[in-house]
Amino acid sequence: MEEKKRNTVVIAVGNQKGGVGKTTNTIQLAGALAERGRRSLIIDLDMTSGATKALRAPTEGWNSSFELLTGAENPEDTIITSEETEVALPPNIHLVPSSRKLAELDTFLIQNPWLIHQDLLLEPINRLRGKYDYVFLNTPPQKTKTTIPALKVADFAVLSAMPDHLAVSALAEALSDIAAAQRHANPQLALLGVVVCAMPRPKTRLARELTAYVERTCVDAHGVTLKFATEISRSVVVQEAQRDGQTIMQYQGDHPVADEYRTLAKEFEDRLARLRTERVISLTTQAEMDHA
Ligand SMILES: Nc1ncnc2c1ncn2[C@@H]1O[C@H](COP(=O)(O)OP(=O)(O)OP(=O)(O)O)[C@@H](O)[C@H]1O
Ligand SMILES: [Mg+2]
Repeated sequence: MEEKKRNTVVIAVGNQKGGVGKTTNTIQLAGALAERGRRSLIIDLDMTSGATKALRAPTEGWNSSFELLTGAENPEDTIITSEETEVALPPNIHLVPSSRKLAELDTFLIQNPWLIHQDLLLEPINRLRGKYDYVFLNTPPQKTKTTIPALKVADFAVLSAMPDHLAVSALAEALSDIAAAQRHANPQLALLGVVVCAMPRPKTRLARELTAYVERTCVDAHGVTLKFATEISRSVVVQEAQRDGQTIMQYQGDHPVADEYRTLAKEFEDRLARLRTERVISLTTQAEMDHA
């Protein structure tokens, strides 16, 4: 039987700083969305294989995001699905693992001068549209060769931040990257939201300052904050679940952090639904104006 076509949303998860929860939030959000019946594909574009390792998938000997980016394999053939017997992925989460081969992307681009770097993901992602509810592009911390094609193809960007002294400058840099991507490559790209995670309880002064900073600086065109209201607490359950290659929903579904991710997933989908309606309305209005 032909599977129903899904309305795929492509999300680039980023931040210029390392260790701020990008990978954790991607996996846990996909896990919470899975409980809501959604199917996600995580594409690990980070040479250090954060998502691949956190999901206990192989980093060698399998097709990877390198083959996806270079077109060496059909996109479908680079995906590890939850039906795979050798890798126990969480339900409704599929993965394109990364590999150290991503380091060869520079050489590949030099050897193939007709290929346009920023367009590398366009064709593979277009082929995958319709098969997933969400495609999460797990980007590396620096502006490397894989971040640019990710921001070119994404419908939305999601940023991740933890209370840290360097968080503010990293966020400012990430916001300016999104603006540059909008200007030079992808006018449709919008920041969907900022997840503030690993919150100490009770909140420290630094944590309160970061929250206030994100609320103030990450805003939409109407000045409304894009910080997700749901904040994720700091807890060892995150590392424990990661150690077992599981989502927190699987590992300890009744843990408060599992509930925080569930609430975040709802907020995420509500926000997407609202933005989609706004986009449709603005497109219709534009069409009416064109027609008049
Ligand atoms: N809510 C949380 N509570 C406790 N620890 C957390 C939480 N979220 C993330 N961590 C831990 O913080 C560390 C960094 O998180 P993660 O790997 O998700 O960040 P990242 O931004 O993807 O890092 P990188 O830039 O290296 O890819 C990990 O050890 C992770 O287990
Ligand atoms: Mg990571």
